[in-house]
Amino acid sequence: MKHSSDSQQGVSTEAIQASFNQHLRQGMTRKAALHLTIKQQVTAGELCYQAKLPPSRVLAAQLAISRDTVELTYGQLEAEGYIARVVGRGSFVSYQQDTLIGRELLAVDHMGHALLVERELSAHGRSLLIAAHAPHTRRSGSLTPSMPDLRLFPIDSWLQLERQAVRQGAERLLGYADPQGLVELREEIIEYLRRERGVKASAEQVIVVTSSQQALSLCTQVLFNPGDRVFVEEPGYQGAKKLVQSAGLIAQPIGVDQSGMDIDTLVQTKEGGRGVYITPSHHYPLGYSLSIERRLKLLAWAQREKAWIIEDDYDSEFNYNGLTTASLQGLDQYQRTLYIGTFSKSLFPGLRIGFLIVPPQLIPPMVAAKQFQDGYTSALPQMTLFKFINDDFYAEHLRNMRKIYQARLEILHTAVHQYLATWTQPRLPQGGLQLVCPLADAATERQLILAAAAQGMKVYGLIDFYTHPPGEGALVFGFAAYNPDEIVNFIKKLSSIFSTLPESI
Ligand SMILES: Cc1ncc(COP(=O)(O)O)c(C=O)c1O
Repeated sequence: MKHSSDSQQGVSTEAIQASFNQHLRQGMTRKAALHLTIKQQVTAGELCYQAKLPPSRVLAAQLAISRDTVELTYGQLEAEGYIARVVGRGSFVSYQQDTLIGRELLAVDHMGHALLVERELSAHGRSLLIAAHAPHTRRSGSLTPSMPDLRLFPIDSWLQLERQAVRQGAERLLGYADPQGLVELREEIIEYLRRERGVKASAEQVIVVTSSQQALSLCTQVLFNPGDRVFVEEPGYQGAKKLVQSAGLIAQPIGVDQSGMDIDTLVQTKEGGRGVYITPSHHYPLGYSLSIERRLKLLAWAQREKAWIIEDDYDSEFNYNGLTTASLQGLDQYQRTLYIGTFSKSLFPGLRIGFLIVPPQLIPPMVAAKQFQDGYTSALPQMTLFKFINDDFYAEHLRNMRKIYQARLEILHTAVHQYLATWTQPRLPQGGLQLVCPLADAATERQLILAAAAQGMKVYGLIDFYTHPPGEGALVFGFAAYNPDEIVNFIKKLSSIFSTLPESI
């Protein structure tokens, strides 16, 4: 259905509203929902070339959102080439379908490259595109959260072990391997987790994967149907939320306080849910641990509703007071918890090895899903990792890194207290790879991030971890991947930028 085939006619706000509401129900922010609605209607040809869009005031009133949100969205669509805004006349669709080597063009990006029309994609392909997001990488003009220091990895020992592994079993390692993972590695992993994390499982329940990301992707495939609701933390890890959305599931945000995810709200959600993705040991990024009372409530809910708990235990190796919280999986008597771990933080993300521990009844479908996804995780790095753990390099590396990261955290904490005290007084967290520095409110966060960006400095804020814009504000600094000079210089530079701003924004 075309909303307007006549360039002079206005576009009906009702047509926009229906799709906008649908995206909102899928857990998108208002701005993202409006952006996607208009973009999809333009590229599908439902909004024709030169069709006039509703004035921002009218559309804002119709959708019950702020005029600012509409203005920002129109601005973004204009920058992307979908619409043109003419002073005194309004906003018009400027995108024209064209053909290139037999394909329709969506638009031309800022480099002049043609983009494909979305409707050529499958429904799943479209949901992947919608959920796409930038990966986290260490940046030099930043203190990127959640990154380990790759410069301190004992690469020579690793390469030596790798050579040894090839010498001892080239034929086995260079051929096809078990989709579930090398049994030696699975045994090492489970022994470590039983001892350190109180996990209750056997090596048969371990599936070696390339990452937490893949583990979660297997869960979405095997456990849920499109349209199912999965609860996620708000704020929380965007990689997980986006992945849940990309699988056609509803990622329903649930708030977090000092005792972790608000399990009462989750339990009382009237639409119900088929699962939950949670970081109970050390919430990402706030660092709280889920209280025992909430753990028991969550387990009882999962048992009652036959829902699945996906526990992401991504950085428990980095606890600086020697007291780690035991896993939720170890407390689960009902076999409703799937436990995800990764070597991306404890070793290096480029290794691409993580693991998924599943209840016994889920082993066959999960292994099948892994096999269909990529066959198996590369065997040579698995064997090298087995040797690295077995020869005690892993324990030694963790001991070293814990000491270094703890010292860096203290340096960052002191620097923030010394140079940014006007804005924030953060508490020292017990662990993790980032420091959250609370601000007066979200508006202050936005102003500080923009002021830093204007000087070429990328600063992360709570907004980067939220689905819906939060009322509260905080800056989030990573410290593990940066040496003391880099940390102190970054904070000093920020301090001089912020000193030009009024003290209360
Ligand atoms: C909560 C959380 N889980 C998982 C990951 C990434 O793990 P992987 O590289 O194994 O996908 C991250 C990375 O930032 C994270 O913050």
